[in-house]
Amino acid sequence: MNKPTLPYDVEAIRADFPILQQAHHDDVPLVFLDNAASSQKPNLVIDGMTNYYRTSHANVHRGIYQLSEQATQLYEDARKKVRDFIHASSHREIIYTRGTTEGINLVAMTWGRKNLGVGDVVLSTAMAHHSNIVPWQILAEEKGFMLKFVPILDNGTLDMEAYRQLLEDNSVKLVTVVHSSNVLGTINPIKEMAHLAHEQGALILIDGAQSVPHMPVNVQDLDCDFFAFSGHKMLGPTGIGILYGKRDILDDMPPYMGGGDMIARVTLEGSTWNDLPYKFEAGTPSIAPAIGLGLAVDYLSSIGMDKIHQHEQIMTEYALDRLAEVAGLTVYGPPSTQKGAVAAFTINGAHAHDVAQVLDSYGIAVRAGHHCAMPLHQLLNVNATARASFYLYNTLEEIDMLAETLEKVKDKLIF
Ligand SMILES: Cc1ncc(COP(=O)(O)O)c(C=O)c1O
Repeated sequence: MNKPTLPYDVEAIRADFPILQQAHHDDVPLVFLDNAASSQKPNLVIDGMTNYYRTSHANVHRGIYQLSEQATQLYEDARKKVRDFIHASSHREIIYTRGTTEGINLVAMTWGRKNLGVGDVVLSTAMAHHSNIVPWQILAEEKGFMLKFVPILDNGTLDMEAYRQLLEDNSVKLVTVVHSSNVLGTINPIKEMAHLAHEQGALILIDGAQSVPHMPVNVQDLDCDFFAFSGHKMLGPTGIGILYGKRDILDDMPPYMGGGDMIARVTLEGSTWNDLPYKFEAGTPSIAPAIGLGLAVDYLSSIGMDKIHQHEQIMTEYALDRLAEVAGLTVYGPPSTQKGAVAAFTINGAHAHDVAQVLDSYGIAVRAGHHCAMPLHQLLNVNATARASFYLYNTLEEIDMLAETLEKVKDKLIF
């Protein structure tokens, strides 16, 4: 198969990632295809965080001394980098969280607890990650609203006709939808969905865990009310994520956790809250991870999200073509033109866990299981899928290796 041309020099990028230089199982090169679970980190992030601890660490927002001011500056600069990266209108709309999961839980437990009740509907989707199902189930038990799900069509896209019909019932107060599915790869029409939700007076929350790392995102253009994502999937460290929210909506929400930094004044009789975004950031925050996330944003921006997206579209199309050559293999989800850099698949006669284990013995890391999307797997009628997911540092040769090794996997597993 002829190899397509990629938009940048992948080898130059790989040189920035020390983990990709090391041998796997001592002797084979690591082919890392589990980027949807978590990405690897470039030297800029690793060294930047180490350097912060070596030279600049102190608690933020508290100390009236130079080191604390320096740490605060770095921490707040990172917030502004994220603001610019997703085109929010103010740094006050950028709340640091631990990740996508915490962002969604924050909205559920503050906005949801205040605004949802009996007779209301929250609309999620059948392709949702557990983090966008379970918080709403927990809250529905408490507040008595209904949780409904937009179904998906056989081609792995959302049933937009059903979405329109579900919205017609004026009781929908919130639509909560994944931007890009971590299993099917489907990229959902968020702008259109936001427009339709707003026409019915509902708010919309976007799970951007699999979109912000891979494509340009402009929250103002999408016109979403909330947008949550994770640092560790976009070259940053674990323990840091972002919840974006429109300022007037965030202003109107009660705090999430109580403690230091989120207050204006505390007396023994009661407390008042700090300004945004600090109202939602109780306690000593993840300072070094936030700075690491800012550096990850620098790194991604230096390449350009358009180019990264283009690279991944080419990789995905190539991967789907190569995987189609493997007899007995089924890839789930829409064609590459509507898909993020994810290929979740099954092989007739082989369990996904065994497939992943044998691939690992050849140095190829993929994930197997339900990928925190059990309801979706029930709909697909499979217990588990193996999932290869690509990022800016993956090569076409790695995809060749995956396809070729899957033939060996079949020889080993299928009798
Ligand atoms: C679509 C999607 N949503 C939410 C999450 C949860 O992200 P985190 O575990 O970083 O909170 C993930 C992680 O796999 C995901 O893929």
